[in-house]
Amino acid sequence: MSCAGETHPPPVTPVGTAPALESTVQNDAGAPASTETPALTDDRLEDRMSMVDNQIVSRGINDSAVLAAMSAVPRHRFVADDWQDQAYRDHPLPIGYGQTISQPYIVALMTEALGAGPGDKVLEIGTGSGYQAAVLAEMGLDVFTIEIVDELAAPAEKTLRELGYDVQTRTDDGYFGWPEEAPFSAIIVTAAPDHVPQPLVDQLAPGGVMVIPVGPIGAVQTLWKFTVSDDGNVLAESLGPVGFVPFTRAED
Ligand SMILES: C[S@@+](CC[C@H](N)C(=O)[O-])C[C@H]1O[C@@H](n2cnc3c(N)ncnc32)[C@H](O)[C@@H]1O
Repeated sequence: MSCAGETHPPPVTPVGTAPALESTVQNDAGAPASTETPALTDDRLEDRMSMVDNQIVSRGINDSAVLAAMSAVPRHRFVADDWQDQAYRDHPLPIGYGQTISQPYIVALMTEALGAGPGDKVLEIGTGSGYQAAVLAEMGLDVFTIEIVDELAAPAEKTLRELGYDVQTRTDDGYFGWPEEAPFSAIIVTAAPDHVPQPLVDQLAPGGVMVIPVGPIGAVQTLWKFTVSDDGNVLAESLGPVGFVPFTRAED
């Protein structure tokens, strides 16, 4: 469940007892069964299919668009050379500057919880390696992503561009969101603040969803799904305990 790497995912279903993959992510040729599913990248395809089967489907993620996207995005391209052999493993990995690329299962859980579809405008706070943004773009979403660490934002943007993902990137403190592009159908925050940033709530469209880990630094946090109803009320649903890296501020 962790972004930081010290903790482990919730043992919903033990790895190795996975049900059969959904038809959209498996057929004899290793290509998607549906013609609407984006083309899979052959490079390390077996590793990706195994990751989706054993780490994601096995834990109850069944959104076919999420599974297809995570079967297609070459996760190893977002990981440094030293970590290539672990790029598809069931845990987060270091990406430098004390930050991590999140565990595949957590990427899938958060992406599914967003409930967003093609054409929806989505804001990510915490670009990191760019992998989560690529998964969202692969699903056909209109992706905006903000990273506070310049040294991470630049290579992430480069990788996304090289892979052909049309993602809008920005280097800034994501606490204030991206007001010029608001409202968003979905907002995903991949670092943990100790409170929910009000500017992000304000930038959600009616019916919009925000998925965000919230909790004190150094302690287990709660992953929340907030949904704004049409009359402006905010409904909160806990998705369980997680361990993310801290949400930092420009003045930190
Ligand atoms: C767990 S990592 C993100 C993983 C990333 N989504 C990926 O797919 O690789 C969290 C990221 O949030 C960034 N971050 C932390 N506080 C931030 C803030 N206030 N605004 C923008 N980014 C922030 C960190 O620098 C780090 O890169």
